Amino acid sequence: MQEQIKNINSLEDLQSLYTATFGKNGTMTAKLKNMKNLDNDARMALNRENTELRELFRVRQSELENAALMAGLEKQRLDVSLNPMPENRGTLHPLTHALANVSAILESFGYEMWTGPEIEDDWHNFTALNTPEYHPARDMQDTFFLENGNVMRTQTSAIQIRSMEKIGAPIKMFGIGATYRKEMDATHSPMFHQIEGLYIDKNITMSDLIADVREFLKRFFEMDDVQLRIRPSYFPFTEPSIEIDMMWQGNKWLEIMGAGMVHPNVLHNCNINPDEYQGFAFGFGWDRLAMLKYGLNDIRKFYDGDVRWLQKTGF
Ligand code: PHE
Repeated sequence: MQEQIKNINSLEDLQSLYTATFGKNGTMTAKLKNMKNLDNDARMALNRENTELRELFRVRQSELENAALMAGLEKQRLDVSLNPMPENRGTLHPLTHALANVSAILESFGYEMWTGPEIEDDWHNFTALNTPEYHPARDMQDTFFLENGNVMRTQTSAIQIRSMEKIGAPIKMFGIGATYRKEMDATHSPMFHQIEGLYIDKNITMSDLIADVREFLKRFFEMDDVQLRIRPSYFPFTEPSIEIDMMWQGNKWLEIMGAGMVHPNVLHNCNINPDEYQGFAFGFGWDRLAMLKYGLNDIRKFYDGDVRWLQKTGF
């Protein structure tokens, strides 16, 4: 029996021999049942045999299990000479990358990031921004109107209203998000993105605005200095309003952002006393800034979801 156990070469065979020995009708089971009829010496001999056999089974079982494990490992051996599987890593979308840059810079200036709903009511998108019904400036933006009178947000300025309503003054924030207008060509998409800064406190002036914008552009475009051109402009929610151009690659002026001192009516609409507080707002196209920085020329590519394009332009 001892020899037989040692020579068994499969776990199944070992299991059947074990059952034949120690199972309900097993040989050893039968002998043990008969123990009471044996004399002392024979009992001790039987006990020894019982213990010894169990130990032999246990040892052989672990030997066979080890052998099976080793055989498995042998089969799965790593072939380090094989080429690695192609790695399918994702990339950051250029807009995501640009936002990370923008927010790191603005946050370092003390601006706090806000978002807001893309479906806006008339109050936040227009009226509170000093653009009441029938105001001609409503035509400046080709708005998507919804049946219930709400609109697809045409400008992130709506987020500023929400932030001022909630926090009041002083406040230093920037709103980011998708905006919608009826327009479409290589540089315009019906859905695009804006980023808009707002700083309201006591004694804030236009030169604070220009200083922040200049420093922001320097850092975003990683330039030692930027040459700016300030042009008077018109937005219903700022007075005075300006447009800021930036000298690009030493040879052309690019329109970069709209800005101005927040109109007293807007502050008033958000329950901020314009005699006590004033400040500025500036807004720019997030997509447009990303296109400039990364040298891209078709805004529509941002939204195509073309993985090959993203792998080329992504980060
Ligand atoms: N909301 C304006 C636009 O969409 C940009 C702007 C923002 C202008 C803040 C002035 C101040 O054109």
